[in-house]
Amino acid sequence: MARVLTGIQSSGRPHLGNILGAIVPAIELIKANQEESFIFIADFHSLTSSKDGELRKENTLAVAAAWLAFGLDIEKTVFYRQSRRPEVAELTWYLSCFTPFPMLANAHSFKDKSERLADVNAGLFTYPVLMSADILLYSADLVPVGKDQLQHLEMCRDIATAFNHQMGTELLKLPEARISEEVKTIPGTDGQKMSKSYNNYIDIFLPEKQLKKNINSIVTDSTPLEEPKDPDTCNVFKLYSLLADADQITQMRKNYQGGNYGYGHAKKEFMELILEKYAEERKAFDFYMSHPEEVGQKLAAGEAKAQKVGMELLQKVRMQLGFA
Ligand code: ADP
Ligand code: TRP
Repeated sequence: MARVLTGIQSSGRPHLGNILGAIVPAIELIKANQEESFIFIADFHSLTSSKDGELRKENTLAVAAAWLAFGLDIEKTVFYRQSRRPEVAELTWYLSCFTPFPMLANAHSFKDKSERLADVNAGLFTYPVLMSADILLYSADLVPVGKDQLQHLEMCRDIATAFNHQMGTELLKLPEARISEEVKTIPGTDGQKMSKSYNNYIDIFLPEKQLKKNINSIVTDSTPLEEPKDPDTCNVFKLYSLLADADQITQMRKNYQGGNYGYGHAKKEFMELILEKYAEERKAFDFYMSHPEEVGQKLAAGEAKAQKVGMELLQKVRMQLGFA
């Protein structure tokens, strides 16, 4: 079987896109897998966008709490904070020197982020190299990610190939992306890709009152209440459909097309569905958020295991390059 590895940035609280695009598919993959998996919180990555240390700690806890709340089996998983294994920073430097500059300059995610964000720093630019180090340090076979990360995985393979080829070795293992096709890209409240950095996300862990506000922020058009509406162009319907079963989706489609059914109704149903479907996960999330020491202990155990695996590879890379 294959070694599964994936990470989520601690640049915000995990949202519905992270949950459906990354957490749930990864947990399913881990369940079906015999081999130990690697799940980490990409807190180094979050520095590209956020400089607030206190907030980063809070978000790191929230990402860890979300994985645990959705049932990550830590007996079968090495669960760790990226920054607690700084070997990855050293490997990033080595890999940078095998990474062609134009490859980074052409990255979709960099182009996209550099257009939207005020702070376009070099970390944002070299981000795919750090991501490659995350994967190559632990010799991962399979990397479950959302579709938006596919190009980063291709870069990781290219960087590993360049290293292996130039150094005449097969030390770095080429990983494969595992994209959950039915999930694709989850839209945000504004219809664009849901992302922590675009402030358009649905946070299913919010207390009810705030969740209601969050759901009410989903952008809809101004079709009057009485008139029939097109479900296929509506963000509320799209998000609802991701969580609802087939009968519920058919019913809501009928409601939209029948008229006298407003976007407010649809939002209310979406909210009820979240509360019902994720009742247990919401409770577990609150528990972990108020027991940070417990989460810290689980992560520390993973970090000790990660160190062993990572150091072994790093030492071989150092030897190849004449640093050891
Ligand atoms: P964000 O864009 O919110 O900062 P991350 O980059 O930390 O999210 O992504 C963590 C994981 O969640 C990745 O595997 C990514 O592909 C997945 N993911 C993020 N946003 C979405 C989305 N809108 N739809 C599907 N998957 C997503
Ligand atoms: N770049 C990923 C994202 O933004 C997060 C991430 C960092 C990651 N390192 C990784 C995902 C390694 C998979 C493997 O979604």
